[in-house]
Amino acid sequence: MSTQFVNQAAWQTGANVKPLSVGPGPDQNNPASDEVIIKVEYVAINPSEWKFQDFNYIPVQFPHVLGSDVAGTIVKIGDGVTRLKEGDRVIGHCLGLSFGGAKHGGFQHYTTCREVVVAKVPDSIPLSHAVVLPLGLSTSIVGLFEILKLDLPTLGGEKKARTVVIWGGSSSMGSTAIQLAVAAGYDVVSTASPRNSGYVKALGAQDTFDHTDSEVVSNILKKLDGRTVAGVYDCIGEEATTKACAAILSQVGGGSLATVLWPPSDLPANVQASMVFATNPGLVADHPGVKVWRDFVESALETGKLLPKPEPKVLTGGLAVVQDALDLQKKGVSAQKVVVQL
Ligand SMILES: NC(=O)c1ccc[n+]([C@@H]2O[C@H](COP(=O)([O-])OP(=O)(O)OC[C@H]3O[C@@H](n4cnc5c(N)ncnc54)[C@H](OP(=O)(O)O)[C@@H]3O)[C@@H](O)[C@H]2O)c1
Repeated sequence: MSTQFVNQAAWQTGANVKPLSVGPGPDQNNPASDEVIIKVEYVAINPSEWKFQDFNYIPVQFPHVLGSDVAGTIVKIGDGVTRLKEGDRVIGHCLGLSFGGAKHGGFQHYTTCREVVVAKVPDSIPLSHAVVLPLGLSTSIVGLFEILKLDLPTLGGEKKARTVVIWGGSSSMGSTAIQLAVAAGYDVVSTASPRNSGYVKALGAQDTFDHTDSEVVSNILKKLDGRTVAGVYDCIGEEATTKACAAILSQVGGGSLATVLWPPSDLPANVQASMVFATNPGLVADHPGVKVWRDFVESALETGKLLPKPEPKVLTGGLAVVQDALDLQKKGVSAQKVVVQL
């Protein structure tokens, strides 16, 4: 008889309820043919989780298990899974808010992930660091390769002589977006606070501009003079940042603007803004992101082409401290990702 996994979860018991309640978790013993079960060692915290607690922005069945980012070890695979096996150290993007409900949430000792959004982690990278990546990867993939239709990243990163503007390079989503755009061969111009300028350049951005400077849009436009702009990606998604990105894009000829939150409607006519749906790589057949998750992530981590950034701030204490971690992320982070060791 096969092992039965005994699961515990940090439950969201109802709309707008805080704190999370720790108790017996969903049954995690029967993956579908395209799923894997992961024994979770670390979870990372994202703004979407405390925003869900505060605003209940998507209908789900309660009790629910939140959480998008996990790192751990595969303990069971579905019968159609061939590229992963039991015992693999992996990261996974949990899709629970959009697909599969509580069983597919991250804040539990065992979770179920669709195999297309799971990647192996080389032994050289601690899972406490790798866990910062999954949602950042899927979000960047949708912004850059689905909406902006850029070329996919490669290990060679052949240069394109085209520039991508990534607003919010020190954010979690921006950190991954810069790395994927650079690996796809584009020059990247980004924004960050002056204290994070070195961090953003180390990720591969050619230049970074202070987002608190009132001249930031014109400073970026001066930098773009004479260049071909392949796309603009707003990784912050506030009204002011999307309008700043739209102003830049409009001045360089217009086109597609990707943004992580709903764009305002009053943007220049030559700008077509689209919001990222980060779960698409896990849910849409033949999504460009499947190739990135499957063919790029593991080898890019191995070769240092993809770094597990931003740096984790690791809380110990297991499921009992996930609510503290959500509250900490809500207070604000800077070039850092809150992580919990389960
Ligand atoms: N649509 C989707 O599917 C999806 C998926 C994931 C995330 N999101 C959304 O994406 C947003 C970013 O998430 P995250 O986890 O990356 O955030 P985060 O890491 O918590 O963001 C913090 C960072 O944002 C930077 N920042 C704040 N205001 C800025 C501004 N006006 N201009 C430029 N940078 C600014 C800060 O930079 P400095 O410290 O350098 O000032 C800081 O490093 C959130 O709103 C989240 O809900 C959407």
